[in-house]
Formats: sequence, structure tokens, C-alpha cells
Amino acid sequence: MNTDLLADLNEHLRLEFRAAHEYLAMSIWLSAHDLPGFSVWMRQQSTDELGHANRVIEHLLDRDQAVKLPAIPEPPADWPDAVALVAHVLRNEQEVTASITALYEAAEGAGDRGAQIMLQWFVNEQMEEESSARALLGRLKLAGSTGLGLLLVDQELAAGKIPGTASSSESVPV
Ligand SMILES: [Fe+2]
Ligand SMILES: [Fe+2]
Repeated sequence: MNTDLLADLNEHLRLEFRAAHEYLAMSIWLSAHDLPGFSVWMRQQSTDELGHANRVIEHLLDRDQAVKLPAIPEPPADWPDAVALVAHVLRNEQEVTASITALYEAAEGAGDRGAQIMLQWFVNEQMEEESSARALLGRLKLAGSTGLGLLLVDQELAAGKIPGTASSSESVPV
């Protein structure tokens, strides 16, 4: 594998593990703030992010390439409100999308078809993840910061009624 592409794929792991860690911290915060539906959904997002990291790791292992696990910064433990929390999720996802786009271009430049095919999955996944974060942010803004509005969105998340937020059945490669 092209050495720059290998370094960039390893570097990308940091973003997926950071997202997993931050989403887990968010899930804990949401649970402590009496939003169980939202908390369970967020916990699933965290699990999905670990699956994303594992997809990259499996690809590198399959090709006998070196994997270097990153240090993960301590996640924020507190949020002003649910809107700020989901706005942070959307920014995270946009950052991951930018990284995937750059990786895809690097794989293309290196003529690495295997990496391109692996990354294609991520291109689609990121469109879905940005879309669900935007949909959730929109619902939260409509609901406002009242208890009743938050309860409604919490129930919608628990029931998978917000577009793109139904329980994920993403398979995690092992
Ligand atoms: Fe991800
Ligand atoms: Fe994500």
C-alpha cells in the first residue's frame, strides 16, 4: 500500500475512536438528564463508530499492513443543552466526511482499487450520518428547550420516527 495512504488511514482511526468516545460520553449525559430514548440512540452511535474503526483495521490487517492505534482525547462531560450536543455531533460527522473524501482521493491517486471499494462504504455512510444528525438537530430546534419538547423528541428517537435514526443494524466486521 502507498505509504501516505497507509499513514492517512491510520490517522483516520483517531476520528472514529474519538467519535465513539464522545458519543458514549453524550449517552451518559443524556441518561443523567432523563432522556433515555436519546441516550440509547446515542449509545448505538458510539457502537457504530467502533464498527467503523474496525472496518478500517480489518482492511489493513487483510492486506498485511501496519495498524497503529491512536491516543483518544478525553471527551467533554457536559453540554449546555441537547441542541448544542447534536450540533457537535453534526460538526463531528462533517469532519469525518472531509477525512473520508480526502482518503478516497488519495486511494484514487494511488490507483488502490481495494481501498477505494472499502472507502466507498464510508462515503455512503457519511451521507446518512450527516442526514440523520441534521434531521435530529432540526427536530430539537423545533421542540425548543422546554421539557415537553425534549420529551417528544426523546420518544421519537426511541420509536425510530426521525428520518435516518431508526435502530441501526450495521454489521461490524470481525
Ligand atoms: Fe464513523
Ligand atoms: Fe459517524
